[in-house]
Amino acid sequence: MQTLNVDLGDRSYPIYIGEDLLTQPELLRQHIQGRQVLVVTNETIAPLYLEQVRQSLAGLQYSEVILPDGEQHKTLGVLSRIYDQLLIDKHNRTTTLIALGGGVVGDMTGYAAASYQRGVNFIQIPTTLLSQVDSSVGGKTGVNHPLGKNMIGAFHQPQCVIADTNSLLTLPARELSAGIAEVIKYGLICDAPFYSWLQENMAGLVQCDKPLLAEAILRSCENKAKVVASDERESGIRAILNLGHTFGHAIETAQGYGNWLHGEAVAVGMLLAADLSARMGWLQSADVLSIKGLLEQANLPVVPPTMSCEQFLSLMAVDKKVLDGRLRLVLLKSMGEAIITSEVSEADVRATLVTSGVA
Ligand code: NAD
Ligand code: GLY
Repeated sequence: MQTLNVDLGDRSYPIYIGEDLLTQPELLRQHIQGRQVLVVTNETIAPLYLEQVRQSLAGLQYSEVILPDGEQHKTLGVLSRIYDQLLIDKHNRTTTLIALGGGVVGDMTGYAAASYQRGVNFIQIPTTLLSQVDSSVGGKTGVNHPLGKNMIGAFHQPQCVIADTNSLLTLPARELSAGIAEVIKYGLICDAPFYSWLQENMAGLVQCDKPLLAEAILRSCENKAKVVASDERESGIRAILNLGHTFGHAIETAQGYGNWLHGEAVAVGMLLAADLSARMGWLQSADVLSIKGLLEQANLPVVPPTMSCEQFLSLMAVDKKVLDGRLRLVLLKSMGEAIITSEVSEADVRATLVTSGVA
């Protein structure tokens, strides 16, 4: 097992990465302070992993909520089922919520924990690659609004993150690829040697090679932990973690939540951001081709869905990075170096969209 620390003063916490972690009750128990726990999971993950987690919690006042599966259920309406169960079972402020699942379960559980009785503890047990390398770390929690992705939420850090790489063995291949998109992101934004490592090892990663996945998770979390530690609430540098997300969120919202996976939308978004970076004179066209090739090797889409330029631009204007009406984008100054800029012209964004096939 590898342990990493997210360094945030009195909100610091460990990330445990390794095999068979769900069979080690003490790992979880040491981070539960009160006598009450509520596990949130979904109908797909419950039959696979809930019993293991329930056994680890023997002797505590135990509640569970099994949510419907899917991004389309990441809503305020479905979220209230968590509050309902907490109140029915009389959970108090010393309770601990445990998120067992992918990013949807993690984001919703985290937001329930941030808001129930103005904030209680929670623990992340991420079971998808995407949640192990990204969403479980850093304390962003929330739900979608029909008009914008992740628009309702809060920053709320977990007590710990337990990433058991065994859980990836049951993950569908398409979901594994979606997680690899966020892994590639770290190489692009801040870790050029990691990007080269991914080029060498992509074939093994898509075949779910466990040692390679463990290495990719560790290096991704190291990068994320470093960025989060320097800018917890995204007043600056943390925005680089959103490479491709402004385009990606527009795709997810336009297509209807759940039709394009988050990682798939981010993959196309990163390629659009790379194209735009080349237009700014920062990347070479060979770099853009290299990114496209790596995404394709990871079985990720590289062409946006059918959407008009106008629809793209109007959805991008709802992005959380928009400040005083100006669109801010994360682009690449070079391979392994991100830049946050509001200097991009609408004409260049349109040119990138049109070149990629958007009408
Ligand atoms: P997800 O939570 O929908 O999980 C993907 C699918 O895999 C679901 O059907 C799920 O039931 C299933 N699944 C989960 N674990 C499994 C396992 N071990 N075996 C078999 N099936 C399993 O999607 P995701 O990709 O994990 O997360 C995407 C979400 O994360 C989006 O809502 C996105 O906005 C959010 N996100 C948040 C942050 C953040 O910083 N908070 C960062 C990135 C993404
Ligand atoms: N996934 C973006 C962030 O955590 O800031």
